[in-house]
Amino acid sequence: MRNAAEIAPAATLHQRVIAVDGPAAAGKSTVARLLADRLGALLFDTGALYRAVTLAALRSGVSLEDEELLARLAVEAQISVRPPSLDDGRLYDVWLNGEDVTWSVREPEVGAIVSRVAEQPAVRAALLPLQRTIASSGPVVMVGRDIGTVVVPNAGLKIYLDATPEERARRRYREAAARGSTQSFESVLRETLQRDALDRSRYTAPLRPALDAVQINTDGIPIDQIVAEIEELARSGRDATGQPLWPS
Ligand code: CDP
Repeated sequence: MRNAAEIAPAATLHQRVIAVDGPAAAGKSTVARLLADRLGALLFDTGALYRAVTLAALRSGVSLEDEELLARLAVEAQISVRPPSLDDGRLYDVWLNGEDVTWSVREPEVGAIVSRVAEQPAVRAALLPLQRTIASSGPVVMVGRDIGTVVVPNAGLKIYLDATPEERARRRYREAAARGSTQSFESVLRETLQRDALDRSRYTAPLRPALDAVQINTDGIPIDQIVAEIEELARSGRDATGQPLWPS
């Protein structure tokens, strides 16, 4: 069933927003980084916001049941997602209250509970204004779970990336191992499946493709090919006067 937020308003404000949604480790961030670079757009990964709030909750010992306190953390935390400041494999920087937490937010302790934090409606509401401000600020590739359905329902292009759970867990396992993690493949797969189940079944802004999203399965397809496909879709977009939205 479509909810009110999913019915695209007539406004053309968000024509140069590309929404990239999909389950965990579907390749969204990597694809979005390359795409944003090719198009000269900003990359904004909204997962980093939920991860940063989760890290703040872990550090301050806030209970996952305490929706009000979690939402207050989300409002008060100074979170920013910016272009990468170091060449250490990061796709972007994540800062929390003046500290670089780019790698801390990727720790398994955060991954294990981030979906519990993200399912709280008050947390989602607290993080919405920042995401909408970014969407209105210029050309941007926005990555998440509900960008095309809730955050920017009138985005100029909506992509839903998916792959089999095994393929996604394999990618995440390799990334983590390259950073020195000792987490087993089985535990990465288990966490990926648990997180997807929670993200898909939550009441507020569940993970699902927008009705007008282009769905792409990334199993076995080289990243460059996926990026090229999306770039072609973007460059074929026209504004109301017939001008290309993303001129070459
Ligand atoms: O990188 P990965 O795909 O593993 O996850 P992420 O994009 O960093 O997102 C972490 C978690 O944040 C997700 O599993 C969701 O629970 C939540 N999230 C969300 O609810 N809505 C978004 N727009 C982005 C992330």
